[in-house]
Amino acid sequence: MTDPSANISIRPLEVDDLETLFAFQADPQSSHMAAFTAKNVTDRDAYMTKWHRLLADATVVSRTILLQESANDPMIVGSVATFLFGDERNVTYGVGRRYWGRGFATRGLQLLLAEVHDRPLFARAASDNFGSIRVLQKCGFCEIGRDRFFAEARGRETEETIFKLP
Ligand SMILES: CC(C)(COP(=O)(O)OP(=O)(O)OC[C@H]1O[C@@H](n2cnc3c(N)ncnc32)[C@H](O)[C@@H]1OP(=O)(O)O)[C@@H](O)C(=O)NCCC(=O)NCCS
Repeated sequence: MTDPSANISIRPLEVDDLETLFAFQADPQSSHMAAFTAKNVTDRDAYMTKWHRLLADATVVSRTILLQESANDPMIVGSVATFLFGDERNVTYGVGRRYWGRGFATRGLQLLLAEVHDRPLFARAASDNFGSIRVLQKCGFCEIGRDRFFAEARGRETEETIFKLP
């Protein structure tokens, strides 16, 4: 059987990708899963303002995950990024719901890890975000602790698990 993630690539995230990526993260199931999101994931203006600022920030490395399925133009299936949280470099990612379960987040993160050589890297996921936790484990991250924060997408304090790639 062909591995669908073999047709995955990443390239620098562009302004023209934002409309698609906005729709992915505004999906209610997706934002519930991610938990620690913006206050209102359906606020398009806030999303665009935030992303224009991030694209101008040299400490943020953001990549669009592309799927080449045929001779047509590649499709945007998600994004992966690394950013500074205090003095720790963190990773984050998201895939459009219709593309879940095909290995795209894992492949997208693996490709980012091959480009960004800073170590250690950190990541945080809601402790019940089993998909995200599995992605991190498959990419070599290990759990180093737990914390609790207010999760905007859930309207309540939620446990998160902290991961490190040494
Ligand atoms: C989490 C997310 C990025 C996973 O993307 P994906 O492309 O479906 O992940 P992959 O296909 O690479 O899956 C990786 C592993 O997780 C498992 N997995 C995926 N979703 C799962 C779920 N909901 N529950 C349990 N396991 C899950 C897969 O089975 C796979 O494990 P396996 O190879 O051992 O079978 C995607 O669900 C998403 O975008 N969610 C919303 C945003 C989010 O939560 N981002 C992360 C914030 S920390």
